[in-house]
Amino acid sequence: MKYVIGNWKSNQNLTESLVWIDGIHALKPKFSPDVSVILCLPFTDIAGFNHKLSDLNLPIITGAQNVSHLPPGKHTGEITANMLSELINYCIVGHSERRRDFGETSEMVAEKAKSLLENAITPIVCLDLPYLDEQIKELFQKNIDVSRCFFVYEPLAAIGTGRPLTPTEINHTTNQIGFLIDNSAPILYGGSVTADNVKSFVDQGRIDGVLVGTDSLEPTLFAGIINSLS
Ligand code: PGA
Repeated sequence: MKYVIGNWKSNQNLTESLVWIDGIHALKPKFSPDVSVILCLPFTDIAGFNHKLSDLNLPIITGAQNVSHLPPGKHTGEITANMLSELINYCIVGHSERRRDFGETSEMVAEKAKSLLENAITPIVCLDLPYLDEQIKELFQKNIDVSRCFFVYEPLAAIGTGRPLTPTEINHTTNQIGFLIDNSAPILYGGSVTADNVKSFVDQGRIDGVLVGTDSLEPTLFAGIINSLS
C-alpha cells in the first residue's frame, strides 16, 4: 500500500473546503485500491467535509493536524483525542511548524501519540534529523506501539521551498527510521512534493508515500499527485 496524505495547515474555511471537494469530484482522479488518500484538515472543516465526502462517495479518509497532549478535563480550548475519535482516523503530530511556533517537545508529541492510539486514531509522527532519535526514544519510553503509527521524514529545508531532497538522500534517512522501529510501520516523505516528483520518491525501497502541504490545497495539483501514483 502507498499513501498520499494532504496537510492543509491553517488554510480553507468550511465553505472553501466544500468547494475543494467539488473540484476533486469534477476532476475524477484515478483512485486505486493500492493508494490510500488521506486529507488532514482544520478541526472546523472535518464534520462538514466528512458529510459531503460520503454524499459523493469519494474514497478520501480524513485526519486532523493536531490534538491536545492532555486528557479530557479543565483545559479551555483544547481538542482531545476523544473528541476527534468520532470524526477522523489519522492525526499528524509533531510537525516542525508546531515545534517552532508552539514550543512542542518530543515528550508532548509522544503524549499526543499515546492519547490518539488510546482512541483508535493513527498518529502520523513527523520527524527531522535533529530530533529523530530523541523522538523515537520518547515513543518507546511511553510504551507506544510504534507499529500502530505512521512516520514521516520532513527535512526542514524542503518544507514549502520547492526544493525537495533527492530520492536517494531521503531513502537513506527513511531506512534509518525503519531500523529504529524495526520496519514495523509505514514511513513517508514530506517536503515540496508535486505531481512531477512524487513517483521518484515512492519508487524508492523504503518510502511508502508522501505528505503534501502546498500542492494539497489546489484540487488540480492534488488530483495530479494521486494520478501519478495510481
Ligand atoms: P510542502 O509542505 O508540501 O508545502 O513542502 C509539507 C509539509 O509541511 O507537510
